[in-house]
Amino acid sequence: MHSKSHKPYLPFGDQQTTPWYGKDILSVKQFSHADLEYIFGVAHEMRIMVERIGAFDLLKGKILANLFYEPSTRTSSSFTAAMERLGGSVIPISEVKYSSVAKGESLPDTVRTLECYTDVIVLRHPETGSAALAAKYARKPVINAGDGVGEHPTQALLDTFTIREELGHLDNLTVTMLGDLKYGRTVHSLSRLLTRFSGIKLNYVSPDILRMPRDVMEEVAEKGLPQSEHVGLDEVLPETDVLYVTRVQRERFEDPAVYEKVKEAYIFTPEVMTSAKKEMIVMHPLPRVTEISMEFDDDPRAAYFRQMEYGLYVRMALLAIVLGKA
Ligand code: NCD
Repeated sequence: MHSKSHKPYLPFGDQQTTPWYGKDILSVKQFSHADLEYIFGVAHEMRIMVERIGAFDLLKGKILANLFYEPSTRTSSSFTAAMERLGGSVIPISEVKYSSVAKGESLPDTVRTLECYTDVIVLRHPETGSAALAAKYARKPVINAGDGVGEHPTQALLDTFTIREELGHLDNLTVTMLGDLKYGRTVHSLSRLLTRFSGIKLNYVSPDILRMPRDVMEEVAEKGLPQSEHVGLDEVLPETDVLYVTRVQRERFEDPAVYEKVKEAYIFTPEVMTSAKKEMIVMHPLPRVTEISMEFDDDPRAAYFRQMEYGLYVRMALLAIVLGKA
């Protein structure tokens, strides 16, 4: 894990001995199986606390900078809710056009500014590697909330937590990822993170031009997971335990005509699901466009709305952990 020990900051009262204290969260590659068990345990406790009492003062007096250079509904608002349910507060900078970014300020200078006023920085940015760059300049922890087509580690953590809470375990599962596997950062992080569990089989279903990047597939192969690529869902749906549907990422296409050709490559309806297992779940990081029909929403296997809620507990856990309170 990226360490800030070269430039320590040790506010009074924090548990500076906890292993995650002051650390950045940049990539799922940082997490061992034991780390995941720990995070899921804390997230589960957060769930119980929220259900019982709603909010509590674990992070009272702490301030989060929520810095978003790309649109977001779930990630930004769940980080805000997470911080506020833990008694902390938030400086939201989602309209970067109203901040000094519009005057030409660099990302390193913006994070060096925000860390003067806050304890942790959540960053979403269109460039791959931007979170690592910000972390290099910041003394305070930086949490990657999506760096272009790179990674979305907190999403992958909430995705795996969702699978665990819904199916009860994370081993011996067939996970099928569907849609835009080329530009979708959530599936890049999720397939890497799933290598931490045993007996996982990965199926990738996409149009030819939106296949899973080779480097991600090579990393997964190095860990020995079986993976296979498909154009149609039919052949893999019956064996699937987790179907992870993604949106075609319009904003990443250089040529809008190419987007138009693939945007409706897969439309998922209740009829399609007749060949699926009864005990399985359908996930989606959201937002959806047309890829899952609303008629499927009432099916108990549709887990995507519950998945959003699990995101709150995982982000509460991550904030508590990097701020030395868990
Ligand atoms: C995803 C993202 O931003 O990568 N959204 C999210 O954080 N839940 C998926 C997407 O935008 O399609």
